[in-house]
Amino acid sequence: MTVCEYRAGLEGIPATQSSISYVDGQRGILEYRGIPIEKLAEQSNFLETAYLLIWGELPTQEELKLFEHEITHHRRLKYRIRDMMKCFPESGHPMDALQACAAALGLFYSKRALDDPAYIRAAVIRLLAKIPTMVAAFQLMRKGNDPVQPRDDLGYAANFLYMLNEQEPDPLPAKIFEVSLILHAEHTINASTFSAMVTASTLTDPYAVVASAVGTLAGPLHGGASEEVIFMLEEIGSVENVRPWLEEQLAHKSKIMGFGHRVYKVKDPRATILQQLAEKLFEKYGRDKYYDVAVELEQAVAEKLGHKGIYPNVDFYSGLVYRKLGIPTDLFTPVFAISRTAGWLAHWKEQLNENRIFRPTQIYTGLHDEPYVPISER
Ligand code: CMC
Repeated sequence: MTVCEYRAGLEGIPATQSSISYVDGQRGILEYRGIPIEKLAEQSNFLETAYLLIWGELPTQEELKLFEHEITHHRRLKYRIRDMMKCFPESGHPMDALQACAAALGLFYSKRALDDPAYIRAAVIRLLAKIPTMVAAFQLMRKGNDPVQPRDDLGYAANFLYMLNEQEPDPLPAKIFEVSLILHAEHTINASTFSAMVTASTLTDPYAVVASAVGTLAGPLHGGASEEVIFMLEEIGSVENVRPWLEEQLAHKSKIMGFGHRVYKVKDPRATILQQLAEKLFEKYGRDKYYDVAVELEQAVAEKLGHKGIYPNVDFYSGLVYRKLGIPTDLFTPVFAISRTAGWLAHWKEQLNENRIFRPTQIYTGLHDEPYVPISER
C-alpha cells in the first residue's frame, strides 16, 4: 500500500468511489447521475430528483406516482414525536431539534434489515416524508401553536410551505422552492455526506446516519453559511458600505460568508440559478432591500479575491430566496437538510452495496514512554 502525505481536511484525497454526482470545479459543472443540474432545475421536481439520486435512474411515470403516493402517505408524525418536541426549548436552534427528531425515528422504527430492499425503501420514504413535517412542526410549536397537518393534495414543496406559513403558497413560490430543493439535494463528498458515510459504514440504522449528517451540516463553514450571509448583509447595510466593509474584513483575514469552495474555483452553478430565482421572486413580490448589497459584494469580492478562485457558493443567494418565501433565518439550514437528505440517503445506499468500515490512519505527533507523575507530585 502506498502511504500518502497528510493533507489537512483530506483535500484532494478520494474517500470513496461514487456514481451519484459529479462536480467540475474549474468549469462550474454539477451533474446528478450524469444529468446537468440546470436541466433538472428546469424540468424535474424534487421527488423525481431524489429518486434519481437514490435509485440511479429517472423513475417511469408509474414508479414516480407510487413513490409520491408513499411519501404523501408517510408525512405525518407520531404523536409521541410531537410530544417529545413540546419539551424542546423554544430558544433552541432548529437544527438541533431536527437532529434529535431524526435520531428519535430510530426508536420507533428500530428493525435494522440492511440487506432487505423493502427496509431500505421504507427508511428512505419515512425520512424524506417526515423531515419537512418535523421542521415545520418545530417552527409552529416554538411559537406556541399546534403543528399544521400535512395536506395530501399538495406536492412536496408546496406542502412544506403550507405547513410552515399556515397558508397555501402561490404557484410561483412553490415552484421556486421546489427548484431550490433540487439544487441542494446532493453535492459529492461534502462534510455532511462524508459524516453520513462514515456512520453508515458501521452498519448502524439510517436514522442515525441522517442524524449525524444533520449535526455536521449545521456548522457555519457548511450549511450554516446561508444564515450567516443574511446577518452579514444586514451588518453591511448599504451598497455604499460594501467596499469599506470588505476592506476591513480582509484586513482582519475574516472569511466572507457565502464565498469560496473547496472544489469550485468559479461561481457555483447553483448560485447562478438561485440568483435568477431570487430575481423572479423580487419581480413579482418586491425587491429584497439587501439584494443590491449582495450584488455589489459579489462584484467587490471578485475584484479582490477572484485570483484565488473565491466566488459565490450555493449559500450566497439562497437566503435571499428563502426570506422571500417566508422562511425564518434560522430555518435556512434545516431547509437545506430537507433537501440534502436525498443525497445522504443515496450515499447510504451506495455505501451499503460495497461496505467497508471507515478507519483511516493518523500521523502521531505526541510523546513516547513518558513517566507517570503521581498526583501528589503534580
Ligand atoms: N473569504 C475570504 N477568503 C477566503 C474565503 C472566504 N469566504 N474562502 C477562502 N478564502 C481564502 C482563504 O483565506 C485562503 O487564502 P490563503 O491561501 O491566502 O490563505 C484560500 O482562500 C483558501 O481557503 P481555505 O479556507 O483553505 O479553503 P477551504 O477549501 O479549506 O475552505 C470553505 C472552503 C468553503 C470552508 C471556505 O471557502 C469558507 O470558509 N467559506 C466561507 C463559509 C461558507 O460560505 N461556507 C459554505 C460552503 S459551500 C456550501 C456548503 O458546504 O454547505
